[in-house]
Amino acid sequence: MKVTIVGAGAVGASCAEYVAIKDFASEVVILDIKDGLAEGKAMDLMQTASLNGFDTKIKGTTNDYSTTANSDVAVITSGIPRKPGMTREELIGINAGIVKEVSANLIKHSPNVTIIVVSNPMDTMTYLVHKTTGLPKNKIIGMGGALDSARFKYRLSEALDCPTSDVDGMVIGGHSDTGMVPLTRLATRNSVPVSAFLSEERLNKVSEDTKVGGATLTKLLGTSAWYAPGAAVSGLVQAIACDQKKMFPCSAMLEGEYGLNDLCIGVPAIIGKDGLEKIVEIELDDKEKAKIKESAEGVKKTNGLLEL
Ligand code: NAI
Repeated sequence: MKVTIVGAGAVGASCAEYVAIKDFASEVVILDIKDGLAEGKAMDLMQTASLNGFDTKIKGTTNDYSTTANSDVAVITSGIPRKPGMTREELIGINAGIVKEVSANLIKHSPNVTIIVVSNPMDTMTYLVHKTTGLPKNKIIGMGGALDSARFKYRLSEALDCPTSDVDGMVIGGHSDTGMVPLTRLATRNSVPVSAFLSEERLNKVSEDTKVGGATLTKLLGTSAWYAPGAAVSGLVQAIACDQKKMFPCSAMLEGEYGLNDLCIGVPAIIGKDGLEKIVEIELDDKEKAKIKESAEGVKKTNGLLEL
């Protein structure tokens, strides 16, 4: 299994580290446009191999796509992150050009690749890759919901004062402060609905904290987060590499599912060796349906800014 990560910045390097530590890939190539950056990060990470006990070979390259040839999975993290006070949508002008160019270069050297899109605004960047590459729809996956759900579980465990491994929950919808739909109704603590432990008011606070999870970190860090994003992407890469058939909320191209068409937005999906193998349609109540519809309108508005 060969994995390419485009962008040797905060998220790309974190993702490379988690993929290497989990030790399921034979080779990881990190590519960046900035001279020497990917080579340096790759060398630094390789020097952790004997310390962390992995055999994955990590290589770095400055924009030489021939090094990425025959990748099974490619992760696109290239582009600019937001600064405090910015929305993800404000990044579209710069990131759309980068994502379009990067995906075309990747496919030239790896025609059978599965692409995981991370760069923001992620749902719109995923849509762009669908519209411009001609890859089959199962081979393009947007990563946002896996991260947002991890943040939701963190906030739930905080409110419940219990280990995160005791809670389960999912965030669907657009990967934006206003578009996320944390499914509090379906969240559980050891199979018991969380509403048995938390008031509606407390659950609303969990939802709101989840939705601004990225913005909260951006304010603290001065730039966007990287550990949880990197870990979330590595989970998707592993599910493909090991054909795990694991379910993650992912940004998928919808053709009628959830009553939505011609956009990419976060919905539960089964991830395995063929990429996004199946969109799972869950029964939503009227409130959740209205929230998803509103979220989709927001994503479509941002998609409208693309020059396709
Ligand atoms: P960063 O600035 O640390 O790294 C981005 C890297 O991309 C830089 O090293 C830059 O040199 C490189 N780059 C720029 N243009 C390139 C090109 N044409 N080819 C190759 N490399 C190029 O940014 P960070 O924090 O790693 O974030 C990356 C992206 O991921 C941002 O758009 C950010 O908003 C997004 N993000 C998405 C998340 C999600 O859940 N989908 C979570 C966190 C970040």
